Amino acid sequence: MKGLFITGTDTGVGKTVISGLLGRYLSDKGYNVVTQKWIQTGCRDSIASDIRLHFKIMHRARNDLKGYSRLISPYVFKLPGSPHLASRIENKIINPDKIKESFKLLSSHFDFTIAEGIGGVLVPFNRKCLVIEIVRELDLAVLVVAQNKLGVINHTLLTIEALEKRKIKILGIIFNNPKNEDSRIVRDNPLIIKTLANLKVFGALPWIENYDKLYERFAPIGKRIYKALDI
Ligand SMILES: Nc1ncnc2c1ncn2[C@@H]1O[C@H](COP(=O)(O)OP(=O)(O)OP(=O)(O)O)[C@@H](O)[C@H]1O
Ligand SMILES: [Mg+2]
Repeated sequence: MKGLFITGTDTGVGKTVISGLLGRYLSDKGYNVVTQKWIQTGCRDSIASDIRLHFKIMHRARNDLKGYSRLISPYVFKLPGSPHLASRIENKIINPDKIKESFKLLSSHFDFTIAEGIGGVLVPFNRKCLVIEIVRELDLAVLVVAQNKLGVINHTLLTIEALEKRKIKILGIIFNNPKNEDSRIVRDNPLIIKTLANLKVFGALPWIENYDKLYERFAPIGKRIYKALDI
């Protein structure tokens, strides 16, 4: 199965942007790539809003993968909250088998499937189960997106500890630089985390609001991720 799960140190740290950029990079390499969002909350559309942003970054039209919408975006909830809460309030049970099946089906139709995580690593989808358990069952490797700001050392090491405890393969870490952060912190975070975690650090993405320009800066990072993926 050729695929990757992209998690983050928190919600709003750049998982969507990086999923789209990596999707574009692999498409440019000639792979037929699809992105997935297993559970989207805070969305009134029938297809996950994060998928729409992946499409925008990848220059893909909304209709391009129309036949696959239900597999790409199996669960969408209106409530902008944790999946377990949205599921309870909107009375729609999240079935992990449906998610696993959607991933496997997409993997059989596409060269590479990128599944964007929901929030951080220990997000529950009901009162008993965490999303990361589905990742474990699918035996997916994980890319960690770390928001490069004060506090991320702790958040990244906690994320890694949680993944290692579940014996999930960690491909490496990509840092996403926020708009305004002390440059000394931005420079040091990847270095100290690399030393403490002993994992690959693929690079730090600058804050650039134009996605085509951001992609230019992502390309060398994408190259390193591609090499680590070994596809
Ligand atoms: N490097 C960047 N340059 C410019 N804008 C960015 C960058 N990274 C993220 N953003 C913007 O920050 C916001 C949050 O990023 P994003 O949606 O990728 O986070 P997320 O981790 O996917 O969040 P969620 O947990 O809701 O899925 C978005 O509006 C996105 O466009
Ligand atoms: Mg997102």
